[in-house]
Amino acid sequence: MATPGIALVGCGSAAPDVVLDNDTLGQLVETSDEWIASRTGIRRRHVAPPAQSLVELATEASNRAIEMAGIDPEQIDLVVLATSTADDLFGSAASIQSAVGAKQAVAFDLTAACSGFLFGLVTVSQYLQTGTFENALLVGADLMSRWVDWDDRRTCVLFGDGAGAVVVKASDTSPGLLGFDMHSNGDRNSCLTLRYEPNDRPLVGGVTASRGGYGFLHMAGKDVYKFAVTRVPETIEKSLFRAGMTADDLDWLLLHQANQRIVDAVAKRLKIPSERTLVNLNEYGNTSAASIPLALDEAVRSGQVQAGQTIAASGFGAGLSWGSAIFRWGA
Ligand code: ACO
Repeated sequence: MATPGIALVGCGSAAPDVVLDNDTLGQLVETSDEWIASRTGIRRRHVAPPAQSLVELATEASNRAIEMAGIDPEQIDLVVLATSTADDLFGSAASIQSAVGAKQAVAFDLTAACSGFLFGLVTVSQYLQTGTFENALLVGADLMSRWVDWDDRRTCVLFGDGAGAVVVKASDTSPGLLGFDMHSNGDRNSCLTLRYEPNDRPLVGGVTASRGGYGFLHMAGKDVYKFAVTRVPETIEKSLFRAGMTADDLDWLLLHQANQRIVDAVAKRLKIPSERTLVNLNEYGNTSAASIPLALDEAVRSGQVQAGQTIAASGFGAGLSWGSAIFRWGA
């Protein structure tokens, strides 16, 4: 029996209502719209107010995806939340499972920073293609505004908050995931970190525990830039090879939305014209695990991406981690 395929049958997204544009951000740190836009393409980012939770935003995106898919939430078998900024260190996927009414589903978080959605897509596809599960809800959501140092102009201008979700089904008729490729290189972990900062908490009998908290995001920007423009074209070429395709067969290139210059450099390496790249980072900045499904959802709802079209997606970031997948949109 042939391995069943997968079909991406619904998408949804959500972002906080509050918008912080580059000029306004210039009142907080010494920067300018000109510097940020010319270096990154980012003009605005959405920032969650203190009362808004990651689960709320992710649930909004998920409900939209489930509605588009036209399935009963109780038909969902698996909920995977790709995030680095869960409301709860024990994981937030189960709270989304409850909020959307996916009563039969098992739910867990997956942490791979800006590669999280891409790794999540490959992960849920494995469960669907082995026949273990039939319907999965994959969510990418991050509230980066809670973890950047708002006094550090090198990083705070780059990130924003958002959520995106897709419903993925096992399918006998759609090939779905045509090829994929994933990598990690922990030797270069220090390029991009958001670390636990210990604080001694003496207990009894000479035993000391650590009762600390998480610090700020740190990034060696130039190193991450060079890593991305080298590794991302390579991984997409590998996925294309595994799919038996070339870049000419792609309708769309959908990269993690970190920086317009990275998108342009990767598209140039792959000889994909800019009209075939999906970009919305000007509006949201880098929303980490949310960026790919957020851009996909906007492109589907605006009619840019049509059913049956082929997309190459690539995520890259902390870990370091990177990967790509080639898939068809729609049933
Ligand atoms: N406004 C004005 N000036 C600034 C700003 C700012 N916001 N930020 C930095 N500068 C200054 C610096 O202080 C520096 O000045 P100096 O030379 O006097 O010290 C100068 O601009 C150049 O700084 P660089 O950091 O070298 O700037 P660069 O050209 O490398 O651009 C950038 C920085 C945009 C961050 C780039 O390196 C980049 O895009 N890196 C990739 C980031 C990325 O894609 N991350 C993705 C993964 S994220 C994840 O996984 C969570």
